[in-house]
Amino acid sequence: MAETISWIATIATVIAAFMTAANLGSRITGSGFCVFLVGSLCWLAASLLTDQPALMWTNVVLTVLNLFGIWRWLGRQARIEDRCGALLIFDEIFAGFGRTGSMFACGQAGVVPDIITLSKALSGGTLPLAATVARKSVFEAFWSDDPQKALMHGPTYMGNALACAAANASLDLFESEPRLAQVNAISGQMTHELAPCRNLPGVNDVRVKGAIAAVEMQQIDDIHALRARFVEEGVFIRPFGAIIYLTPAFTIESHDLSRLTGAIVKVVAEGIAGGPG
Ligand SMILES: Cc1ncc(COP(=O)(O)O)c(C=O)c1O
Repeated sequence: MAETISWIATIATVIAAFMTAANLGSRITGSGFCVFLVGSLCWLAASLLTDQPALMWTNVVLTVLNLFGIWRWLGRQARIEDRCGALLIFDEIFAGFGRTGSMFACGQAGVVPDIITLSKALSGGTLPLAATVARKSVFEAFWSDDPQKALMHGPTYMGNALACAAANASLDLFESEPRLAQVNAISGQMTHELAPCRNLPGVNDVRVKGAIAAVEMQQIDDIHALRARFVEEGVFIRPFGAIIYLTPAFTIESHDLSRLTGAIVKVVAEGIAGGPG
């Protein structure tokens, strides 16, 4: 009797494990979840009833796989999209390709968006190119020979061959050159060199994330005068709102970056950026 239960449990768990494996890369459905759960409960019964170590260990391995599938499914359930059908869109036009310290910002947030928009560093900033990447289910919703259903959208320069060649070359450089290490070094240097701004009058905050630095002022009185002052210092820094920011190229030399950060510290210390007094 116990052996029969064990075999039934094993078969159930094998099926569940196959479903887990098949679903790892995509969406796990509610019915898939039920199979996982039943498989796990069967294993529990089998473990208690069987006296065959080999069978028990087989079940242990399969159930670990099984639970991994459940865990992923539960993780997806937490997402708004799974709960109410809304799509999660990440605009990584600016943040994508290393700017915030990892290849994409969504990776740091621990989520996989349904749609992600890319541009800027996609082609290393050399030629204008943008791309929208969508989950298969989103893509297929617009993919049809029926003109009523298909997304009839064709920008003039879509798939521009020259821009795509530039993007391919830039992506090759991401693989052959240490882009993320460069971002990390820029991050450390900007953190260190902009730190003196914290103690200057009129400065609200200094923030650095990846290769982005922002010196937030309480206010900037005359933005045009401030821009002109930076030009006098030989740097082109374009503050907006109350923020003086840097987003340097990942290939910037350390001494060039110091020139930018030095200009910010100097000009903010002069009080031209604004603030009290
Ligand atoms: C985050 C972000 N999204 C979208 C855009 C607009 O992109 P595009 O100029 O390709 O329309 C920009 C442009 O600066 C951006 O920084």
